[in-house]
Amino acid sequence: MCGIVGYAGRRGAQPILLDCLKRLEYRGYDSAGIAIVGKELQLFKAKGEIAVLESTMPEMEGSVGIAHTRWATQGKPTTENAHPLTDCSRKVAIVHNGIISNFMELKEGLLRSGHTFSSETDTEVFAHLVEAELKDGLVDAVSKAIAKIEGTYAFAVVGEGHDEIVATRRESPLVVGLGEGENFLASDVTALLKYTNRMVYIRDGEVVRVTADSVDIFDSKGEKVSREAEKITWNLEDAEKGGYPHFMLKEIYEQPEAIHDSLLGRIEGEESEPFFQDNRFSNVKIVACGTSYHAGLVGKYIIEELARIPTTVQISSEYRYSPVARENPLVVLITQSGETADTLGAAREAKKRGNKTMSIANVVGSAITREVDYTIYTRAGPEIGVAATKTFTTQLVAMYLLAMELGAQNKTLTAQARRSMVGTLRNLPRAVQDVLNQARVIEALANKYSDARDMFFIGRSINYPIALEGALKTKEISYVHGEGYPAGELKHGPLALISKESPVVAIAVRDHTYEKMLGNISEVSARGSPVIAIGFEGDTELSKFADDVIRIREIPPIFSPVPIIVVLQLWAYYIAKARGCPIDKPRNIAKTVTVE
Ligand code: AGP
Repeated sequence: MCGIVGYAGRRGAQPILLDCLKRLEYRGYDSAGIAIVGKELQLFKAKGEIAVLESTMPEMEGSVGIAHTRWATQGKPTTENAHPLTDCSRKVAIVHNGIISNFMELKEGLLRSGHTFSSETDTEVFAHLVEAELKDGLVDAVSKAIAKIEGTYAFAVVGEGHDEIVATRRESPLVVGLGEGENFLASDVTALLKYTNRMVYIRDGEVVRVTADSVDIFDSKGEKVSREAEKITWNLEDAEKGGYPHFMLKEIYEQPEAIHDSLLGRIEGEESEPFFQDNRFSNVKIVACGTSYHAGLVGKYIIEELARIPTTVQISSEYRYSPVARENPLVVLITQSGETADTLGAAREAKKRGNKTMSIANVVGSAITREVDYTIYTRAGPEIGVAATKTFTTQLVAMYLLAMELGAQNKTLTAQARRSMVGTLRNLPRAVQDVLNQARVIEALANKYSDARDMFFIGRSINYPIALEGALKTKEISYVHGEGYPAGELKHGPLALISKESPVVAIAVRDHTYEKMLGNISEVSARGSPVIAIGFEGDTELSKFADDVIRIREIPPIFSPVPIIVVLQLWAYYIAKARGCPIDKPRNIAKTVTVE
């Protein structure tokens, strides 16, 4: 997720663009850049936060320009990879928010026709496509160039000698702000509210030309479209959260898009792009902390199911002091920040042991990605809330992708099985959206139990780690003492804590553990505990055993952790909200733990 802004007016564009860009810093902050059309096209960019750009850029004359703050997905966060990016002549500059999934094949074609590249980004191919089509103006060139693009985008383009900005979008947001004798462009209204509250939303496939005195929208056939402006009533702080009350809720709702983006370009063909050379691994060792550790526990079930490779999972701070293993594992380090000290330490320990290492990270160029042999990037975008949500579900996506690759290498995953998995992966965003559509039901139940002091979460097999993650979400943002257990373990002690004061959340999807889960629900219910079961739609058994039931659309059990954890994220969120907790910044904990 990146931030785009544009200005076309009569005032100096540079200070206005910087001012607007700063309000999009939450969308990405690893590098930034600006391009302004003066006598010639002026461009400047810098690695680091917007403040670095602001303090190092030269003064630039001109009243039309674009600017960008980056969240790297393809290409490390360097100055060369910062946007705006240009064509060969440096007379066309573009900024981009999204992922071009066919950029490699486009780049090869452009290189063959003589174009030269200055970055390792996917975005730069678009600058050269516009250059190649630039015969009858920018609108025409952009319209022809986007016809070649696969993936997601919001592009804004400026060109030397053109007093206009041309922009377009597909799945990434783009809005025009209407001023008096000036007009604006941005990824979201947050950037523009200081200057105007009259917004025109651009829709997928449309191309818009913005000048100081005009805004012209063209549909995919090149026909002009008229569109009324909308008046935005949000204040600035609400706007930064997209109108949500908390970043955590916004990020819970971003999960369909984050999962979609994390799959882009990775499941299209029969064989997805391999993440690493064909190394035969006798076993896999997953190492992580907190929520990422729970993703690893789910990953164990997925890898052993699909690739039949023995997989163990260890907390980073424990792995570092565990005895040196004899066999040669693939050590997979899961860390959304890529900066967790314990996990970085574990990566160094694994390398010291001579093991191949892979990271699953959400931040391109983060410390862990520079320590390991391979990286699978999740594409969740920046996660501001301390409680991990969209980074967790995209870590699960990475686990499916890794398991499928290992399964293909080990020939334990048939082509037919792979096709079926790809089909379900493609539907995961919709499965998550189905849960989000039930938010009111989940909120009502969370409110019903929000006074509890203790809460237990139980599950079996692949949903045992989801019980742990649901407990962690609840304890870290609502301060209710949530404990997750393998359901079969209650009778070995925890049952002593079960009473009518301690609600139990039981994950009971119709898989091979279902009957046992019904027994566990009876076990706790008989001791007075209210039970909230999570099960499949159409399951009429559950309501005979549980006090309340939250239902998800039926899905192959191996994928059920994804929609179920979204139920539990909302459950935790609404309990914390009912208890008046500071949800985005819970007490005593930080978003990234850079101390051991
Ligand atoms: C999760 O909600 C917590 N914020 C915490 O457990 C987190 O998952 C853990 O600190 C690991 O962070 P990482 O993924 O950045 O390594």
